[in-house]
Amino acid sequence: MTTGSELHAPLRRERTILRNPCTAHSGGNPMRVTLTSRKALGTAAVLSIALGATACGGARSAGGGDGPQTIRFSHVVAAETPKGQAAEKFAEVVDENCGDELTVEVYPNSELYGDEDELQALQSGAVQMLAPASAKFTTIAPQLQVLDLPFLFDSVDDIPDIVSPDTAVGQAIYENQELADRNIQVLGLWDNGLKQLSSNTEMTQPSDLGGQRFRIQPSDVLQGQFDQWGAATTPLAFAEVYNALQQGVIDGQENPYSNIESQNMHTVQEHITESNHGYIGYVQTINTDFFESLSSELQDCVTTASDEAATYNREVAADLNDEAKQTIIDADTTEITELTPEQRQAFKDSVVPSVWEDYADVIGQDLVDELLANEQG
Ligand code: LMR
Repeated sequence: MTTGSELHAPLRRERTILRNPCTAHSGGNPMRVTLTSRKALGTAAVLSIALGATACGGARSAGGGDGPQTIRFSHVVAAETPKGQAAEKFAEVVDENCGDELTVEVYPNSELYGDEDELQALQSGAVQMLAPASAKFTTIAPQLQVLDLPFLFDSVDDIPDIVSPDTAVGQAIYENQELADRNIQVLGLWDNGLKQLSSNTEMTQPSDLGGQRFRIQPSDVLQGQFDQWGAATTPLAFAEVYNALQQGVIDGQENPYSNIESQNMHTVQEHITESNHGYIGYVQTINTDFFESLSSELQDCVTTASDEAATYNREVAADLNDEAKQTIIDADTTEITELTPEQRQAFKDSVVPSVWEDYADVIGQDLVDELLANEQG
């Protein structure tokens, strides 16, 4: 396969240093915290977040005043998943290398903000950093749905060739003007891995999904994929998926093993089809005003920590998914069906190239043409 890296120059941009008078740097005693429950934050802290966001154009640390800067990093998955581990790694590297001026607080499991409000929180500066799955940006930056294209990857080994800062796909994300216009800067691309299908019936061919209702992330491309398989869809926040499955509001969902296992979805789903049909990729983002208010040294330190976290993420993602799969096997609540190459090809043929072409207008015709050419090459 031809990779985009042969077609595009590296995309890291020069960073503009704008000093923000709202943010001073005068030392302090930083502490990195991972809160394990929303309650742990407390009403006072929630209030201070809201007030901090208002007092300084949304970009200021809730530490306030002349104290050290704090990056609140909110995400929706469990701490033990590839994203959770990368977030911890980012915090660790900042803690070790960035001095007393900057600290990172990681809030996993939708404890601080969930899918429904985290992007707003990032734009307003109520949090400084997120790493949402690409599909979560559909409303504000629809081109990011490129990562939702079904069967964009045949294996996790293909991911770095297609999704890196210097590929056409990476460029569409790093250089996304719609994100920039919303005070969002892209720092890195992380991944979880490939998605599997779960439901209460065995699924070995596309028609097996017919008539079932699947939870999707809010992405038109994902809706198009399930349309082709004759399934109904319901967009739902990640934090609501387990309950919706348990209560039968939805029949199934799609996610990598690490997300299925860490949310206990396998305890309420009788079947998983190992389809590896789609990708969960994360866009590590920072509030631009906040980032540009940091000294150039701290900006470099944050960028380096992001790069280290991205490397770490790719080192651990496959193993964490393998471990989660084994935990599901050991739990013995769910039958896992590994598709044969022919069965997987039948799923693929039902959506490629049709779904890719259906959404070329939002993803970019040139980008889709290039991906299709790579696919055929
Ligand atoms: C989902 O909402 O299904 C996942 O994308 C959550 C995540 O961030 O991995």
